[in-house]
Amino acid sequence: MTEHEPPPIRIGVVGTGFMGRQHLEFIRAAPGATLAAVADPVPAPEAGRGLPGYEDAGSMLAAEDLDAVVIANPNALHVDTALDCLEAGVAVLVEKPVAMAYAESRRLVAAVARLDGRLLVGHHRRHHPAVARARAAIQEGELGSVVAVGGIWSARKDDAYFAETSWHRRPGAGVLLINVVHDLDLLRHLCGEVAEVQAMTSSHARGLEVEDTVSLSLRFESGAVGSLLASDAGVSPWGWDQATEETLAFPYLPDGVAYRVVGTQGALSVPNLARYAYDPAVPADWHSPLSRTYLPVAPRGSFQAQLAHFIDVARGVTRPLVTAEDASRTLALVEAAALAARTGATVDVAQFRAAIDARATEGPADGQGRR
Ligand SMILES: NC(=O)c1ccc[n+]([C@@H]2O[C@H](COP(=O)([O-])OP(=O)(O)OC[C@H]3O[C@@H](n4cnc5c(N)ncnc54)[C@H](O)[C@@H]3O)[C@@H](O)[C@H]2O)c1
Repeated sequence: MTEHEPPPIRIGVVGTGFMGRQHLEFIRAAPGATLAAVADPVPAPEAGRGLPGYEDAGSMLAAEDLDAVVIANPNALHVDTALDCLEAGVAVLVEKPVAMAYAESRRLVAAVARLDGRLLVGHHRRHHPAVARARAAIQEGELGSVVAVGGIWSARKDDAYFAETSWHRRPGAGVLLINVVHDLDLLRHLCGEVAEVQAMTSSHARGLEVEDTVSLSLRFESGAVGSLLASDAGVSPWGWDQATEETLAFPYLPDGVAYRVVGTQGALSVPNLARYAYDPAVPADWHSPLSRTYLPVAPRGSFQAQLAHFIDVARGVTRPLVTAEDASRTLALVEAAALAARTGATVDVAQFRAAIDARATEGPADGQGRR
């Protein structure tokens, strides 16, 4: 640390399961942060070996002088844990999904506004350098006007993932809320808001209460259309986790692609950033050969970039890239897709959100005067 650098921020981690343990490693490796404490009813191996460990977030917040908390406990606890942290005045990085349901996420959106809270939601893919470059290519018209986007996330999860962790088998989990939430968040980030969604889901492969496979059709407000296939039962090289070198937990495949964006003047696959276009000297139609160029980006892991960004959010020097409001909209889209699958109807996403917002306004306030 030079004399001009601010002191490292003290971060506590709530939930030290699969994802929480990864956050511990990211924090340990990050310049600008110190791992101060953990909270989990099942003690992490490091707790007690020099790292203070607590049963829950409340006792950690009461005992430790923290600047920030990373929340990686089960989804059902996200909102209440984040509210406790915001009320204690610490910055929050809460794992996705921000809540179990859009209606519940609105409590957090309101609390962030009421408390002027610093809260980032862990849609880490947005921090990947390829995503910023793809977004710039789309927004600056490098592909012409986007007409369509196709996405896929399919990977066979280990059977123990479902057998050993009961919440992974129950409503509140499922491939839509656990995995597709990332893809829909990223498609919103790249291509703008989704106006309408149609969906089919299946639990055929695993036979669980939650869906294992989904197919979605999307219409974006821009007029572009999209499709997204996802499965946690199907083996494939296609999907963000296989297509990026984010973690050794998901071995990298160089031919993995997650999204294909198709425009009137070119196409782009993401995250490998292969851009296809006609030579300006030839007619721009399907009789001409397409050339492929890989757009250059400086490599950086999304989780490391997310943590560096979170440290800045905690210090109050930048606004969160993924706000509670933004993640809440992604969650509404996931729910709209689930409704579309249940009913077979095309769901208008803005109307879907408005109907839930109206019910919340009419409904009774909670015991503390909050809705
Ligand atoms: N960003 C990503 O790519 C990514 C990947 C995996 C999981 N996640 C998210 O991370 C979160 C955790 O998922 P996971 O796969 O690590 O689950 P997990 O079941 O492995 O871990 C959850 C941990 O929370 C602990 N816990 C339970 N109740 C608690 C409480 N009251 N206070 C503190 N800790 C408590 C459990 O003991 C467990 O150690 C979920 O929200 C999940 O959606 C995100």
